[in-house]
Amino acid sequence: MKDHTIIIVRSLPEGGRKKEKFTVPLQPGATVLQGLVHIYDTVDSTLAFRYSCRYNHCGLCGISADGRPRLACKTKLETTEEVAPLANLPILRDLAVDRTRYYSRFKGMRLYPEGDAAEPLGHLVEESLHRNLMGCLECLCCVASCPSHSLSDVSFGGPYLFVKLAQLHLDSRDRTDRRAQAAEKGLARCRECKKCRCPNGIDLHGALEALNK
Ligand code: SF4
Ligand code: SF4
Ligand code: FES
Repeated sequence: MKDHTIIIVRSLPEGGRKKEKFTVPLQPGATVLQGLVHIYDTVDSTLAFRYSCRYNHCGLCGISADGRPRLACKTKLETTEEVAPLANLPILRDLAVDRTRYYSRFKGMRLYPEGDAAEPLGHLVEESLHRNLMGCLECLCCVASCPSHSLSDVSFGGPYLFVKLAQLHLDSRDRTDRRAQAAEKGLARCRECKKCRCPNGIDLHGALEALNK
């Protein structure tokens, strides 16, 4: 079995960051997540990172791989040289980021299908864009690559929120004006730069278009 050297951008206890090199065995088809688990199990159990499902389902393993936001469980170890925490989010430790600060800007938005109490909820619109958007894993990789998103300016919702609002806008059971909510959350400040690419194939630009039409 070959070995592979990987650099991990870690946080220092006194603040700041450092790059640390690790050598991990390269099994056929190994993922970055497998490499991180190997390091944690056999070399340094203080390495902090998040995951749960190990297979493209929970959205918890977002990392930056050679500068691109990726899911660690879907990214090949063999072709990855450097792993860092997702950009644009506060770092808790090493590769673990704090998602709660981002989510707090949606507080009170009622991000679920809301019908009229006097009228039963109708059927879901089964259109292909809606089906695609419902596959969002909430990994926040799109937020990490959005130049309009900033931690200090909570008035811009960011691409993940726009996907969520587009899901609801395309859901015929929902009676809330999701376009108005998107406008309130700064949709007009989206630069249409298309940098928010999704590692899970979500049509982010379709979502933005649906809210803009
Ligand atoms: S749209 Fe894609 S990148 Fe953004 S949170 Fe959903 S799954 Fe992650
Ligand atoms: S297209 Fe809009 S939401 Fe996507 S990265 Fe650019 S500014 Fe952000
Ligand atoms: S570990 Fe669940 S999506 Fe990667």
